[in-house]
Amino acid sequence: MANRLEGKIVAITGGSQGIGLAIAQRFAQEGADISFCYRSNKAGADEVVQDIQKLGRKCAGFQSDVGLVSDGQKFIADTVTQFGRIDILVNNAGLERNADFWNVTEADYDAVLNVNLKGLFFITQAFVKHRMDVPSSDRKPGGKIINISSVHEELPFPHFASYCASKGGVKMLTRNLSIELAPLGITINSIAPGAIETPINTKLLNDPAKLHALLENIPLKRLGKPEDVASMAVFLASSESDYATGTTFFLDGGLTWNYQEQ
Ligand code: BGC
Repeated sequence: MANRLEGKIVAITGGSQGIGLAIAQRFAQEGADISFCYRSNKAGADEVVQDIQKLGRKCAGFQSDVGLVSDGQKFIADTVTQFGRIDILVNNAGLERNADFWNVTEADYDAVLNVNLKGLFFITQAFVKHRMDVPSSDRKPGGKIINISSVHEELPFPHFASYCASKGGVKMLTRNLSIELAPLGITINSIAPGAIETPINTKLLNDPAKLHALLENIPLKRLGKPEDVASMAVFLASSESDYATGTTFFLDGGLTWNYQEQ
């Protein structure tokens, strides 16, 4: 199969583990050069860089706390300095906190919203400003933004109110920016994964009763793999999806239509 992302330069937030890591590896296999940021997993990040360089692609990992606007802006600026430009932005970094609504602290709310929504918002803004700076003759067609959202941009997830609020925000941002960014030749779409085997689900994976109950609700009877998300991300990053913008693509083994609270 032809390399579907040959010559593309991609920036990924949260690339040292889970879904972000799978996307980094898969995009590199498809011919893209990869810049990613990570918050604290330097050993993991170094390994990713080496693995991707072995594929013959350029790769760099930058330490960055996406929850800090200045860090996110620096990640975009450093990527442009090192790679020359960015064609595709993957907003993947995210976290969730589990608490009854009446126990959610301001610190927990900020931790979740700062990364999942505020950080994503301003990194996206930095990417768009960068694309506006590139003379249109040098802008490769097909600037693309891919947000890793969640089925919980649509579905309630009791005891995860801050997470749901953040993903609902990502949903509306995706809808809104599709209109504002279309004249700039930039599309924006979200992927809404269901339950995926990643570190965010470590607790669930170690709780057989909960896992069993969740699998009962998933018509395809398995959790998703990070690679499942990466496959859809390749489609959204490639020219095959050029007519898609402002949309969320659900990837959940059917969970959304069968969801019951755990
Ligand atoms: C959450 C997981 C949850 C899954 C399905 C994801 O967005 O991060 O914790 O298992 O949705 O409910």
